[in-house]
Amino acid sequence: MSTSMASFGHHLLSLFLFTTLLSTSINGNSVNPSNTTCPSFDCGNGLVVGYPFWQQGRQNDHCGYQGLGILCTGRQPLLCLSGDIYRLKKINHSENTLTATYNELNNTTCPVAHHDVKLNSSYFLNISMENKVVRLFYNCTLYPPSLPYIECLRYGLKRSYVFGEGAIPEFDWERYCETTVSVPVIEKGGDGILVNSFGRALQDGFMLTWRSPDRACRSCEASGGFCGYGNGLLQKFICYCNDGQQSDNSCHHNGNFLCMI
Ligand SMILES: *[C@@H]1O[C@H](CO)[C@@H](O)[C@H](O)[C@H]1NC(C)=O
Ligand SMILES: *[C@@H]1O[C@H](CO)[C@@H](O)[C@H](O)[C@H]1NC(C)=O
Ligand SMILES: *[C@@H]1O[C@H](CO)[C@@H](O)[C@H](O)[C@H]1NC(C)=O
Ligand SMILES: *[C@@H]1O[C@H](CO)[C@@H](O)[C@H](O)[C@H]1NC(C)=O
Ligand SMILES: *[C@@H]1O[C@H](CO)[C@@H](O)[C@H](O)[C@H]1NC(C)=O
Ligand SMILES: *[C@@H]1O[C@H](CO)[C@@H](O)[C@H](O)[C@H]1NC(C)=O
Ligand SMILES: *[C@@H]1O[C@H](CO)[C@@H](O)[C@H](O)[C@H]1NC(C)=O
Repeated sequence: MSTSMASFGHHLLSLFLFTTLLSTSINGNSVNPSNTTCPSFDCGNGLVVGYPFWQQGRQNDHCGYQGLGILCTGRQPLLCLSGDIYRLKKINHSENTLTATYNELNNTTCPVAHHDVKLNSSYFLNISMENKVVRLFYNCTLYPPSLPYIECLRYGLKRSYVFGEGAIPEFDWERYCETTVSVPVIEKGGDGILVNSFGRALQDGFMLTWRSPDRACRSCEASGGFCGYGNGLLQKFICYCNDGQQSDNSCHHNGNFLCMI
């Protein structure tokens, strides 16, 4: 009896070690965005976008995280954040960062940001610490004298200003300016030159980071799978495995090694 228990224990230990080794080795590949189950894509401008982003309307039922669907329009990858559309400029799958910019800026030298960059914190994207936040005040009818203003946005007596958040001169801006917008930009240079460099800064965009959404997804990814969310709903979680199977948790359960005891 005790020998068979010991033997059973030994099998359990081997199974545990085997499973651990297996998941470790799969884990090493699991972030490979060029896998075929949820393949990377290119909207036509050369930027290769991969899991956990997925191509809206094209890919395996929402083959990626909720809210990270990319729409290819006019060869540009577009991302929707809290109802506003941004253009993806860069993506780094090894450090989980992306750079995005207002889609409507269209490469103009004197761009206007019409709304704040808003993120829905219940999604998986976060503003990176690499950014600094600038605040723009448009069409101010009254302003402190001798502050540098944005020349190309001057309309008669109305002036527009830009400051780093935290370096806004004391004044009742909200009262005398038509609109005010807050935008993260990739930290570069000092605050002093903002009135000249704000156009470039808006074009360069801001950096976001992403994280794994939940325990089920982390376990799916650790097993070499890809997390999908059918209908964009967290409740409709699907783990897509490389063997083409689907699971509601981890791809190990689709393997056959569990039968080897
Ligand atoms: C996808 O992953 C599977 C299992 O990890 C691997 O065998 C296959 O070579 C990968 N395919 C590509 C294109 O990387
Ligand atoms: C954030 O997302 C949740 C879940 O989809 C939604 O209920 C909520 O209205 C969203 N909030 C904003 C500000 O968009
Ligand atoms: C992604 O980030 C890593 C780590 O910072 C860096 O080594 C790599 O060159 C970056 N890749 C791209 C394509 O920018
Ligand atoms: C920017 O480009 C989009 C399509 O690429 C177009 O619909 C929009 O009118 C353009 N906006 C400006 C200000 O040129
Ligand atoms: C933006 O304009 C500059 C010069 O006006 C040009 O060199 C650059 O290629 C343009 N970029 C895009 C994405 O159109
Ligand atoms: C986003 O970043 C902020 C500041 O770094 C952090 O406090 C917060 O927990 C992050 N949120 C998520 C959902 O990761
Ligand atoms: C500022 O005022 C001008 C002229 O009234 C208008 O054309 C422009 O759209 C306004 N800018 C903003 C950002 O509201």
